[in-house]
Amino acid sequence: MSLFRHNILPRLRLLRTALSRRFVYADVVAMAQEYGLDYRDLSADVEPFGFVLSVAKGIPPDPPDFPALIGPPEGFTPPGAPARFNSEPSVGRFLGQLVFFSHAQTVVELGCFGGWASAHMALALKSAGRGGRLYCVDYIQEYLDVMLANLRRHGLGDLVTPVRGMSLEPAVLAALPTRIDVIFLDTSHAFPGTRDEILAYAPRLSPGGFLVLHDSVGASGVRRSVRDVASRFKVLTFATEQSNGVAVLQPR
Ligand SMILES: C[S@@+](CC[C@H](N)C(=O)[O-])C[C@H]1O[C@@H](n2cnc3c(N)ncnc32)[C@H](O)[C@@H]1O
Repeated sequence: MSLFRHNILPRLRLLRTALSRRFVYADVVAMAQEYGLDYRDLSADVEPFGFVLSVAKGIPPDPPDFPALIGPPEGFTPPGAPARFNSEPSVGRFLGQLVFFSHAQTVVELGCFGGWASAHMALALKSAGRGGRLYCVDYIQEYLDVMLANLRRHGLGDLVTPVRGMSLEPAVLAALPTRIDVIFLDTSHAFPGTRDEILAYAPRLSPGGFLVLHDSVGASGVRRSVRDVASRFKVLTFATEQSNGVAVLQPR
């Protein structure tokens, strides 16, 4: 019964939504309620339209064609590692567009795996032509090596600084900038680790900066972490194609 309620039912609903091409917002809220979440966790306290306006500064130029230039996520997976660790395509595109349209210059990804999302953010920095740097953190050296090779393959290697270690290690925190425009948090997905990462990194956001969490619908540790800190942030959560979800946090 619990499997049906928490897994199958929301997926059936998203499938119906995808087939009927309806706006998914109401479905996401219904799914949140089934998970027992606070309304705020998913419905957010910022309107999507207001969010878009805050991201798009002035009349936006065309963003890069991310899918055409980066290709499918499978090509980024480190040998022997699970391909499902790569973010969904909509997440890569969203991060690229966020970095591009928000004029971000300093970007940090916590948990980079093979560099699939990293490539979108690095391409956005390069295409925006404002300079900029992407810092990619992972505690597995082999993943950092694969990420760097993948970014070089796309002509993006010069924009990235790999940082090896755990996200909350003092040496890692010391190696990262203290003013960050976009943070993409995609590490253990556990509670309280994710909550502690939010609290450690959010004070580094530049004014108007964004902290993005993947799996804010699908991973219980991320859901719980966002719920725990929600009173301190404006939160906007999007549905993604595999119903994992992405949440964007901005300090109040
Ligand atoms: C889901 S994968 C990241 C996927 C990648 N962000 C993407 O969008 O394609 C999670 C990654 O986080 C790393 N990781 C997990 N916990 C970590 C931590 N506390 N500090 C640094 N890296 C961590 C793992 O080694 C793994 O590569």
